[in-house]
Amino acid sequence: MRCLIIYQTTFGSNRKIAKLMEETVSQAGHEAELHDVKRVDAEEAAGADLYIFSAPTHIGSAPRRMRSFLRSLARVQREGPYGLLATRSTPDSEAVESMLQALSGGGMRCLSYMTVCLDGKDGLEQGWERKVSDFTEGLLSAAAAGRGALR
Ligand SMILES: Cc1cc2nc3c(=O)[nH]c(=O)nc-3n(C[C@H](O)[C@H](O)[C@H](O)COP(=O)(O)O)c2cc1C
Repeated sequence: MRCLIIYQTTFGSNRKIAKLMEETVSQAGHEAELHDVKRVDAEEAAGADLYIFSAPTHIGSAPRRMRSFLRSLARVQREGPYGLLATRSTPDSEAVESMLQALSGGGMRCLSYMTVCLDGKDGLEQGWERKVSDFTEGLLSAAAAGRGALR
C-alpha cells in the first residue's frame, strides 16, 4: 500500500507527528511518502492508496493552506480512504471538522480522525507517540481491509 502523509506546521509539532506516522507506515511494511503541504500540489498527490493529513488549529480551524489543498485534492482524487489529525492548544478546535468539510466535495472517505493537545509552549501531550502510532496502525488495517468508517 502506498501511503501519503501530508502535514502543515508552524512550530514543528505536526512535522514531528508526520515523521512518526511515516516510520509507523514503513515499519508495517508499506510505502510511506511525507510531504509538507507547502511543497506539494494536489495533482502530484493523487493516486495514493491511503492519505493521512496532519495540521494545526489556527483561529479555530485548520489553516487556509491545508483546507485549500484538501479541496483541490478532493477534485482530482475522486475516491480512497484517509485519516485526519489536528493539533490544538484549546478544547474548542474545529480543525478536524474544517478538514472534513474541505474534503467533502469528492468521494474520498474518512476512516478515522483524532486531535493531539499541546502542553505548555511547544510540547505535545504526554503519550502522544503511542496515540499517533496506534492511530496510524488503525488506519493501515482499515484501509487494507477496505472497511468503511471506523467512527
Ligand atoms: C496564528 C495562530 C492561531 C492559533 N489559533 C489557535 C486556536 O484557535 N485554537 C487552538 O487550540 N490553538 C491555536 N493555535 C495554537 C496552534 O494550534 C499550535 O501552535 C499548533 O497546533 C502547533 O502545531 P505546529 O507546531 O505544527 O505549528 C494557534 C496558533 C497560531 C500560530
